[in-house]
Amino acid sequence: MTPLVSMRDIDKSFPGVHALKSVQFEVLPGEVHALMGENGAGKSTLMKILSGVYSKDAGVIELDGKSVNVTSPRQAQELGIGIIHQELSLMRDLNAAQNIFIGREPRSAGNFVIDEKRLNADTAKLFAAMHLKLDPKVQVESLTIAKQQMVEIAKALSHKSRVLIMDEPTAALNDAEINELFTIIRQLKAEGVGIVYISHKMDELKRIADRVTVMRDGEYVGTVPAADTPVEKIISMMVGRAISDEPPTIPDLKDAEVLLEVKNLNRGREVQDVSFSVKKGEILGFAGLMGAGRTEVARVIFGADSMQSGEIFVHGKKVSIKQPRDAVRAGIGYLSEDRKQFGLATGMDVAANIVMASVERFISPLGVLKNKEIRDTAREYIKQLTIRTPSERQETRFLSGGNQQKVVVAKWLLRDCDVLIFDEPTRGIDVGAKSEIYKLLNKLAEQGRAIIVISSELPEILRLSHRIAVMCEGRLTGILPGGDTPQEEIMRLATQRASATTTPANGRAA
Ligand SMILES: Nc1ncnc2c1ncn2[C@@H]1O[C@H](COP(=O)(O)OP(=O)(O)OP(=O)(O)O)[C@@H](O)[C@H]1O
Ligand SMILES: [Mg+2]
Repeated sequence: MTPLVSMRDIDKSFPGVHALKSVQFEVLPGEVHALMGENGAGKSTLMKILSGVYSKDAGVIELDGKSVNVTSPRQAQELGIGIIHQELSLMRDLNAAQNIFIGREPRSAGNFVIDEKRLNADTAKLFAAMHLKLDPKVQVESLTIAKQQMVEIAKALSHKSRVLIMDEPTAALNDAEINELFTIIRQLKAEGVGIVYISHKMDELKRIADRVTVMRDGEYVGTVPAADTPVEKIISMMVGRAISDEPPTIPDLKDAEVLLEVKNLNRGREVQDVSFSVKKGEILGFAGLMGAGRTEVARVIFGADSMQSGEIFVHGKKVSIKQPRDAVRAGIGYLSEDRKQFGLATGMDVAANIVMASVERFISPLGVLKNKEIRDTAREYIKQLTIRTPSERQETRFLSGGNQQKVVVAKWLLRDCDVLIFDEPTRGIDVGAKSEIYKLLNKLAEQGRAIIVISSELPEILRLSHRIAVMCEGRLTGILPGGDTPQEEIMRLATQRASATTTPANGRAA
């Protein structure tokens, strides 16, 4: 079979970074070809070359066996190459339909006015095909990251591409949404579309991929069939070593001080009467389905959203938190799930980002910035978290997605807070670096911090938590011991809706 796409000996350098070194990659019609590798391995760069975002320095690209020169995203689209980018690229102040058909809106007679009705109808059709319940006219900025991702996917589908590149499409999706996406992928496959699938979630490989190509450090490592290759083998191809990940050893915290206590926290439907506490040295995991209210609880504690009622105690003292500054002053740090908006200063370099939340530590009594210490600290974290960057002076917008995440994680690891809340700390982070982050979180706990980890990945919750708080629809439905708690037990609490536990007065089940 002639490959739909064949990329041979692709080379690409950026200032200070040899991002791709003679890389090979091909996609057959109807194939889902996974592209794997650690953060910064070169996956996105390779796909940006295929989709006309970057130009290659050397190498050949063939479509249907014929050599082509892809010079712009627009031309790539005309050649039938579509891409869903890792960074969401929607216009926040346009609505969903406008985003999807931007620049090619259906027009009414005379070609002057945009035909809003058809625009919305076409969008509704796309959403229906994806089983997505969304108003075409909804403002994009009011959507959750997951929903924005779905709109992005709808946009790519609307182009009817022959080759569809998905760069970490499921990073922010919940299980149901991932299932919808996989159904769509299978349909496209049946129509002969070739799909490039980039993900750090190993279980997805087995579910959706036909073949896997692994890259490491900008080099091509190899291509293997997905079904008959053990995951351990693929991981060792990626990182060049095996990774061991033990379950947590749960410390005895009977006599430990309660560092954070939250009592009867309320905010609309999203947070309903939530009470819990975290001890010094404890890692409390927060499990639940997307939209269960975990992020909302964190945002209220951090003062990013206001509470309607409730009390927060740090070190047993009641604190009043009206804005994030109050929280930081009370010793609470928050790594938000939306790094783009809250976490990263993309125009600043790696070192500045890492020390940003701890800057007072790096100012001398005379008010001078201690540059050497800033650099040394940054280098230490770059090493510890294997942040791939030419130096600590590189602007963060030039880092790969996963390495940007690591910078934000480093920032909060460095910040000396008693209570640290990490919201999806390893989203988009490769398997090797994940286990490094787990080790660092454990170290922070051992040093006497109280840590809250919100994660949608159950294996991560189980790997880290000393206790597991589970939420469903704004309520805390239970707190389980960590260690070897069965996943089913967590899922039961995660799906325990209020209507199922109380009998309505009129006797009807809601
Ligand atoms: N525009 C750019 N300028 C400078 N360096 C860049 C640029 N784009 C990417 N790089 C560098 O090229 C290397 C490969 O990055 P790329 O984004 O392709 O990695 P990736 O495999 O997609 O990683 P991730 O899993 O983190 O998304 C990285 O070292 C990155 O910092
Ligand atoms: Mg990438």
